[in-house]
Amino acid sequence: MIGIISALDEELQLFLDKADIGKSIVQSQITFHFGTLEGHAIVLLKCGVGKVNAAIATQLLIDRFGVDSIIFTGMAGGLVPYIKKQDIVISNFVVQYDVDLTAFGRRPGEIPELSRLIEANPNLIKSARKAFDTYKSEKSIKSNVIVGTIACGDTFVSDSEKIQWLQTEFGAVAVEMEGGAVGQVCQMNNVPFVIIRIISDVASETAASEFIFSLEDASKTTFGIVQQMLKQLPIKDKRELFAKA
Ligand code: ADE
Repeated sequence: MIGIISALDEELQLFLDKADIGKSIVQSQITFHFGTLEGHAIVLLKCGVGKVNAAIATQLLIDRFGVDSIIFTGMAGGLVPYIKKQDIVISNFVVQYDVDLTAFGRRPGEIPELSRLIEANPNLIKSARKAFDTYKSEKSIKSNVIVGTIACGDTFVSDSEKIQWLQTEFGAVAVEMEGGAVGQVCQMNNVPFVIIRIISDVASETAASEFIFSLEDASKTTFGIVQQMLKQLPIKDKRELFAKA
């Protein structure tokens, strides 16, 4: 079963509309919706904003519901000049930029006993890229795709100094508030993951209003890409479709 997470209701809505949902279970104030999409057994959920919400949801997906891979989708702020609004960013790495043990001589983002940059699953990255290419040619959208490092922290970034620092310190191309937590939990549990984000703003002073303005359209594109990805991914085992939650 594939877990699909978004931070916000708006980012998840199309998945709920298009999937065939069977039942829903509430745990830890999160509603997990079970169903099928493009022949895959899936569980859909909105985790809420920030790293703690994302970590709780991810661990529950793994422990209680036994997902075998996780896709996180939603919006992100662009950090580099060549990334424009509506472009797609696929994580090859995630980093939690706000972990700071520099007082002990560690590098920003370094978590003891974990890698500083957490790697997303290469097959999922490849499949997300391919899905983007198909979606782009089918829908004739102008967006480009960038596979790169996504910086994650518990702040909505809207200042140019921070943008500069995230680029130079981590080589990050986009910033958001959940992917690093999903990555850490997945790495610690050996579960493949990928983060697929659409750029809603360029993390500058006007980022908050741009973010709100982008929500609906952006969510259509991310849904389209993930749907395409599911169409292309092999279906593991049809028996999963009837497995008990
Ligand atoms: N998600 C979308 N835009 C963002 C930003 N500027 N900072 C953090 N998370 C975001």
